Amino acid sequence: MIRSIGSFIRGLPKAELHLHIEGTLEPEMVFELAHKNGVLLPYSSVQALRDAYNFDDLQSFLDVYYAGAAVLRDESDFHALTWAYLCKAHDQGVVHAEIFFDPQTHTAHGVPMAAVIGGIRRALVDGERAFGITHRLILCFLRHLSAADAMQTLEEALPHAAAISAVGLDSAESGNPPAKFASVFARARREGFLTVAHAGEEGPPDYIREALDVLGVSRIDHGVRCEEDAALIERLVREQVPLTVCPLSNVMLKVFERMQDHNLKRLLHLGVCVTVNSDDPAYFGGYVAENYLAVYRALELSRAEIVQLARNSIRASFLSAAEVGVWMRRIDQFVATA
Ligand code: HPA
Ligand code: ZN
Repeated sequence: MIRSIGSFIRGLPKAELHLHIEGTLEPEMVFELAHKNGVLLPYSSVQALRDAYNFDDLQSFLDVYYAGAAVLRDESDFHALTWAYLCKAHDQGVVHAEIFFDPQTHTAHGVPMAAVIGGIRRALVDGERAFGITHRLILCFLRHLSAADAMQTLEEALPHAAAISAVGLDSAESGNPPAKFASVFARARREGFLTVAHAGEEGPPDYIREALDVLGVSRIDHGVRCEEDAALIERLVREQVPLTVCPLSNVMLKVFERMQDHNLKRLLHLGVCVTVNSDDPAYFGGYVAENYLAVYRALELSRAEIVQLARNSIRASFLSAAEVGVWMRRIDQFVATA
């Protein structure tokens, strides 16, 4: 069968490893939930909200993203949000999703931790039953808040530890280095969580090094600024530290001016384990398949390179070695018949 590239990308089994569930909140759902929950929005219409999706940098995005997330108030909201994402992800060939959530955004509005985790978790279980999509949940600390606030959040989450695989670090990177959260991540590791962190999106390559050395992370989220430091790239290749790259996000937040300038292909050719992800798809103009398609076109990737990216996503996941093996064979079968 000769498939179009769009159909090839959608059909290719892949994992999504960098996805903020709050970043899947589409404008229509923002208004629907604002109405349901009596939350006053600083936007007059769906169109006015969409018009605000014109970002200068990470912070200008975060302002809109936190305003949107404020409409999520009860367990059913988190279920609806996560379910809508899983339906889209299934359509795009996602077979395994590792999902970030930002509990501090919600507990600050008085939403109980149990409602946040319970709603997301219930949808993930429904998604596994309906689509066979396996999942991990990653609790992210907001790095613009204090380490003490993060520690308190970790303690509040401990009763739900069975639902959570890893902790991560997101929000405003510049001026909030990984080392600020050294003791929180040490505690999280003692409690049995894996760790990841956003680093090298807007922050310098040293933040990537710090995330590895001080926070003991298994993956770097974004990490694209590693390119400024040859010794660091060598280390990422040697240790096969995965980078969860988000191409549409990087262009929308002006990490790269144009998609043609993106360094994903260069990093791939240097042997870095790069993966493709959607970050906040409701805000950045596309879900995971659109991200693959955007780099395929702008960087003139081959289908073999697209397959390599999908393989990397499975290998970089927190799935067991046996599960990784199963999906590698499924990818081989897909390629053989595509
Ligand atoms: N970077 C930092 N924090 C975030 C992001 C991001 O890309 N998306 C949602 N929170
Ligand atoms: Zn992110």
